[in-house]
Amino acid sequence: MTTAVAAEYSAPAKIILFGEHAVVHGQPAIAAPVSSLRAFASVTPASAGSGLAIDVADLDTRLTISSGGAVPDHPLARAACLLLDTICRPPPDLRVTLRSQIPIASGLGSGAALTTALMRALVGAGGMSIPDAVLNELVYEVEREFHGTPSGIDNTVVVYERTIWFVRGEPPALLTVGKPFDLVVADTGVHASTKDAVAGVHALLAADPAGTRPVIEAIGALAHRARSTIARGDIRSLGPLMNENHRLLQRLTASSDELDRLAAAALSAGAWGAKLSGGGRGGNMIALCPPGAEAELAAALLAAGARRTIMTKVEAHE
Ligand code: PMV
Repeated sequence: MTTAVAAEYSAPAKIILFGEHAVVHGQPAIAAPVSSLRAFASVTPASAGSGLAIDVADLDTRLTISSGGAVPDHPLARAACLLLDTICRPPPDLRVTLRSQIPIASGLGSGAALTTALMRALVGAGGMSIPDAVLNELVYEVEREFHGTPSGIDNTVVVYERTIWFVRGEPPALLTVGKPFDLVVADTGVHASTKDAVAGVHALLAADPAGTRPVIEAIGALAHRARSTIARGDIRSLGPLMNENHRLLQRLTASSDELDRLAAAALSAGAWGAKLSGGGRGGNMIALCPPGAEAELAAALLAAGARRTIMTKVEAHE
């Protein structure tokens, strides 16, 4: 494997605009990258025979992988091995340093972004390239091994870095976005397990299928309406759809007091719509921002207890 110079690779965070949880049960969902918030993998050559060292800067963790050595029981070590197997390479003599601007366990796809950046680094360091579709499969494989049975939406939006229409088990469709729009993402500061929240919905379905199935289908119907609303650039009309999606997620036990408080604060401060984003029960809320109102909305969310806010734009696309 040839690595002449240091290089840096990255992948973005993501938000789910519509359809989380219902997507696990076959309904469509819409997700967008947050390109201003990223995970980075920087590569530097290491001495001959030293193997692959992956330094996870934020966790103070070093994972070492060498030919014939035991693989550390860690998603990122597993990701590296899976990628090297796929490109038929032994562990290279490299140091990969991973760092991330994406808060963990908050529904922003930090795991998928780190895995993607690491895999890109190993491919790039070998002077190779792999199609996004293959990379997406590999990142999904790692997500699946370590996070139960994810729908695949996180890895897909992170790898393609485009706003997508996603149906489990189908190739993703790139979404037409008629006009760009702004969102404020507000972090409750509460770490929540997506796996537990997903299990909660499974439990509801098992206990009360007749009451739960229509809620899941209603979320799918909202995603369809949102798709055409986004395509024609009727941004303001997205707001009520987001509010309705949040109410349906509450019925699936995916919300929390903190998320509800932030959503209410966003609406009082003039947001056109607000909902939780991702697994919920903590993590992040997203609010649809009228043009020019970002700063005011962010201030209102911080005053209502948000740990931090991020402004992001969903870019227009044909
Ligand atoms: O990883 P998170 O917290 O953004 O949630 C993913 C979205 C879910 O629909 C709740 C789960 C999934 O696998 O799609």
